[in-house]
Amino acid sequence: MLKQEPEDGQATLADPHFRADVLTGLAATPRAIPARWFYDRRGSELFERITDLPEYYPTRTETALLERIGPELGGLAAPDAAVVEFGSGSSTKTPILLRAVQPAAYVPIDISGDFLRQSARALSADFPGLPVYPVEADFLRPVPLPREVADLPKLGFFPGSTIGNMQAFHAVDLLRAMRDWLGEGARLLIGMDRIKPPEILIPAYDDAQGTTAAFNMNLLERINRELGGDIPLDAFRHRAVWNADAARIEMHLEARRAVNFAIGDRMFHIPQGETIHTENSHKYGPNGARMLLRAGGWTPIAEWTDPQDWFALMLCEAQPLRRAP
Ligand code: AVI
Repeated sequence: MLKQEPEDGQATLADPHFRADVLTGLAATPRAIPARWFYDRRGSELFERITDLPEYYPTRTETALLERIGPELGGLAAPDAAVVEFGSGSSTKTPILLRAVQPAAYVPIDISGDFLRQSARALSADFPGLPVYPVEADFLRPVPLPREVADLPKLGFFPGSTIGNMQAFHAVDLLRAMRDWLGEGARLLIGMDRIKPPEILIPAYDDAQGTTAAFNMNLLERINRELGGDIPLDAFRHRAVWNADAARIEMHLEARRAVNFAIGDRMFHIPQGETIHTENSHKYGPNGARMLLRAGGWTPIAEWTDPQDWFALMLCEAQPLRRAP
């Protein structure tokens, strides 16, 4: 997942990129704020809670799948590989992969330095003898890999269906960038959520306990806290919508009534029923998933799904840079 540093609570010290994205996004038609801004400290905690919800199947399903395919994966990854994990967070999946492939080094990349160091320490304790080289970076920008792993074959690990939070256009850019960073001969293990009936998808993004609603609403609270906003929270409600044409779950914040508010010296008016679009979570069928990976410079060489076909793990190889015939 894409994590941000914990908030400082001071409007004057707010991240200028956050301010720019919010002010531009609220003035746009349709209104939209990038999902990356969900992940302040509270947002990251709420996301961890989401992953344990009975309705939120992706984490559970992917973890069980990884456990199941571990022995097979061990034979498919180079024995002296460096595992490079994108957006490592507090993943419980990482130890499963490391036990399966027994890599020569592990490189977790995460935007949150605190989080990264904490989980790197925990992993080092569980895997004594495994060199761990944490990289504090936003992998949406160029990522310098540590010199120590330069000559090792790479196995990229991008679980959680985080790729689904990007529009195909940006997902392809990211996959191509990963291909460049990991280099010729690299492999990538990526988790992708499957298309499934809305009766399963909607509750996963609109759970009975209201944790996903709190996660979505926290964005407004963060705007108030960090950008000096006075958005009345009770004027909005969480909405999760299945957009069948785009094969994605969309999260929105819908105005329950016409609402006026200010963020610093900027005034906004949102009519009743209009929404702020806060997240896309794209789902992929087998062909769509393979096509996306190929467009991003990766050739799928193996794929596994759970018995219900709800979630897929795809192993790919970096395409050699050759001209088409
Ligand atoms: C991080 N990402 C893959 C989650 C998803 O399922 O799209 C974020 C999330 N949003 C609401 N619930 C979970």
